Amino acid sequence: MTPRALLRPGQMAWLAEIGVDTHWLAARPVSIPASKPAPGREPERSPVVEMPAVDAGLKRVRAPYGLGVPQAPAPGIDAPADCPDLSALDAAVAACVRCARHAQRVRAVPGTGQGVRPHYLIVGEQPGLEDDAGGLPFQGDSGRLLAAMLSAARLPQAESTYLTYAVKCRAVGGREPSPQDVAACLPWLRRQIALLRPRWILALGRVAAQAVIGVEGDLDELRGGPHRHVPDQGEPIPVWVTHQPSSLLVRSAWKAEAWRDLAGLAAAARAGAEAV
Ligand code: URA
Repeated sequence: MTPRALLRPGQMAWLAEIGVDTHWLAARPVSIPASKPAPGREPERSPVVEMPAVDAGLKRVRAPYGLGVPQAPAPGIDAPADCPDLSALDAAVAACVRCARHAQRVRAVPGTGQGVRPHYLIVGEQPGLEDDAGGLPFQGDSGRLLAAMLSAARLPQAESTYLTYAVKCRAVGGREPSPQDVAACLPWLRRQIALLRPRWILALGRVAAQAVIGVEGDLDELRGGPHRHVPDQGEPIPVWVTHQPSSLLVRSAWKAEAWRDLAGLAAAARAGAEAV
């Protein structure tokens, strides 16, 4: 059966709304292993998956951004590990001067959303122009597209979401974060993840994926999942990767790939919820 044949009418309508031509989906099958039905239950028609073991099929790791290398002390408030809660972390990020971006930002963008054990932590690359002006992530067209994509994918418990960026300040002109920018900001992201303890992480774009997973690789190698984030304390967190909405706004042909990635995450999250 093609992925297209698995879509319900509501999903088709959403896909049309976010600009995905569902005929493309017939070209490449969704690479999700089908779940076994629970004893005594009928198998589902939708592509529900069993969550593979966290170590299964992980891509080979080459650590970028000096992971594990102690960060040089920087002036100002600069002690991610000492932030006891999210509001302390937000305040520290707002005052951060760890990289040159602090002189270029209007406002730092620490993040927003469900601050206690969210179902999903969504990590983008860096604040857009409107995010920088208002201090909130995923504003404007990118935010609207992201919301439509999440709706289309029917992520279970999608209302329980926290949004942030790998690099929390925008550089002049929206310059892509350098490895040094990402390394400077990584301790904030890692502390944020440790405080939030999300069940799933969705990384949007190559820079966010590399920062969250701690691997090198281009986006096509990293897209989909499961990958994992290994926090400083606690269990590894499963990670899925897809395109960032700002890229999809300029290359709409990638929307079908993004939908497939999110469908994989939704199926894995459904299977995870059933297994609990
Ligand atoms: N910032 C990102 O990193 N990605 C987006 O899609 C929008 C803002």
